[in-house]
Amino acid sequence: MENIFHRVSIRKFSNQPVEKEKIEQILRAAMQAPSACNQQPWEFYVVEDKEMIHALSQVTPYSAFAFNAPVIIVPVYREENLPAPMFAQIDLSIACENMWLETDALQLGGTWIGIAPLKDWMEAVAEILDLPDNLKVFSLFALGYPAEEKPQQDRFDAARIHYMKR
Ligand SMILES: Cc1cc2nc3c(=O)[nH]c(=O)nc-3n(C[C@H](O)[C@H](O)[C@H](O)COP(=O)(O)O)c2cc1C
Repeated sequence: MENIFHRVSIRKFSNQPVEKEKIEQILRAAMQAPSACNQQPWEFYVVEDKEMIHALSQVTPYSAFAFNAPVIIVPVYREENLPAPMFAQIDLSIACENMWLETDALQLGGTWIGIAPLKDWMEAVAEILDLPDNLKVFSLFALGYPAEEKPQQDRFDAARIHYMKR
């Protein structure tokens, strides 16, 4: 999995549109994620409308860069009729990391914008998308062809590893 050691947050995008097959491949990776009891609580909204992207980019103080993204994927989840609803956000987290890695593998770039667990932001996004009440917003994932290049930080820290010896 070389993408684990290559993926970075990309916040500058070229104007090149993202092919539908690539978006689908990214969502295929998302849905391949493991989830508690295999409950797969997710749905994914793909936003390409400029006005909607603008509105989404204004939801948090940390999302303005997303205005220039050609696509924002909005992963959402439901809580009803799940065997383990308390794990739904964790399930979505794994799906989002899968999306990010697949984005990198396709030579695209993106950045996860945190929305859940902040209720106000979750509701603001739900209102923009006019979501049904049972769907909760997890995050925004802004993606496109990268217009910046960044080396990945090496975050390995041997001091964080604690081998338990008797
Ligand atoms: C849960 C989560 C929320 C994040 N929210 C934002 C955000 O709102 N805005 C942003 O620009 N980046 C956001 N990021 C990206 C992080 O800032 C980034 O992953 C971190 O600085 C490490 O950099 P890297 O992704 O290039 O390795 C978020 C990442 C995660 C995992």
